[in-house]
Amino acid sequence: MTSSPFPRSFLWGASSSAYQIEGALDADGRGPCVWDTFAAAGKIQDGTTAAIACDHYHRWPEDIALMKAAGFNAYRFSIAWPRVLPGGSGPVNDKGLDFYDRLVDGLLAAGIQPIACLYHWDLPQPLEDRGGWLGREIVAPFAQYARVAAQRLGDRVRDWMMLNEPSVVAIFGYGFGEHAPGRTLGEDGILRALHHQNLAQGAALRAIQAEHSGLNLGTVLNLQPCRAENDHPEAVAAAARWDAVWNRVPLDGVLRGQIPPLLAEKMKDIVHPGDEAAIRFPIDRLGINYYSRMTMKHEPGRPFDVGWGDPHCEHYTFMGWPVQPDGLRDILNELRRDYGNPPVFIAENGAAYDDQVSADGVVHDAERVSFFKAHLEAVARAIQDGCDVRGYLCWSLLDNFEWAFGLAKRFGIVRVDYDSLERTPKDSYRFLAQVVKGERV
Ligand code: FCB
Repeated sequence: MTSSPFPRSFLWGASSSAYQIEGALDADGRGPCVWDTFAAAGKIQDGTTAAIACDHYHRWPEDIALMKAAGFNAYRFSIAWPRVLPGGSGPVNDKGLDFYDRLVDGLLAAGIQPIACLYHWDLPQPLEDRGGWLGREIVAPFAQYARVAAQRLGDRVRDWMMLNEPSVVAIFGYGFGEHAPGRTLGEDGILRALHHQNLAQGAALRAIQAEHSGLNLGTVLNLQPCRAENDHPEAVAAAARWDAVWNRVPLDGVLRGQIPPLLAEKMKDIVHPGDEAAIRFPIDRLGINYYSRMTMKHEPGRPFDVGWGDPHCEHYTFMGWPVQPDGLRDILNELRRDYGNPPVFIAENGAAYDDQVSADGVVHDAERVSFFKAHLEAVARAIQDGCDVRGYLCWSLLDNFEWAFGLAKRFGIVRVDYDSLERTPKDSYRFLAQVVKGERV
């Protein structure tokens, strides 16, 4: 056994999101959200819904016990906006907040640091009915929600993340329509939804800061290096455009208060005077979700004239995503080199595989173990390169509702039987528990 490359204070754990695990969509005064509407419209590929999902709303003590038994010391969860403000803004639903109160107390009692994320895609439907992320009217409701959540939980939750993957919300929710709310507005919808998330985030960060001092404030971005499919200048230019949309609008927004020059013309009517200052904020932590690189090609007629290229990769996950662990090291080093080495943590990293339950009743998920091993090595190397990485949270503790794919894609280190709701740790759970103890990687 060699000494661990990870610092003693390192955060180890898992990430989840409210909509994907909680179930109990009608409990205790929760209001409807865009994913309820999207599912009711028959848009989930396997026909399932999140009505029960993992029933975490009722089984959270068991889930905390699983994290504790693995030796985890941190957990990122999301708060459901429609539980806290069922109308999106206006009256507060105390019973919704009570759930997170119990969860946070349970985590602290187990020695697990809670990291709360405010927006993991469950936009209250009444706000979508008023334009959702397409208009700046959403800024004040999000700031109200942030203030209310921090008022209630800020005495115990020290770490607050504002958004999760704003580029996915904008691109798939408002551009291509593959995610809720299913709008197919192309470039303009994408850029509006991106900018208004940036603005709402800026307002929420300031609202929480005014409410409580001494909290760690941040946000979670899915940074993916964008490569050109080949070295043809058109492909190279397409990759640069996609990088501007996918990575730079969110990243340069919060860290630099900058609109990427490549998009300045297309965003000139969306960005108002003073917006750059309003979206910039000196965050304490940046959460990074990493799954793979992206390979792009020139494809006229699609938004930004960019299409998905062939990554020519050896291994793919059950999502069809290429396995490219070195992209994670690249991202971390880019932040060190070009963005002043901000404190970051891996807020999501993991893989879906076609899990089979063996005769012994267990999932021996060797491919997922290899995936984690390779990515943890990439993180360890980045730390040795000098990157300020503070933690690693896998996606995800439990198999869960994978958005438009429904329950069919399993990302958990713990298997969930969706009939009995029984939880069974997989080999990858045992592997990560060993890593946390310093026995592996
Ligand atoms: C990320 C999401 C998360 C989950 C994983 C697989 O993009 O943040 O909710 O769906 O992908």
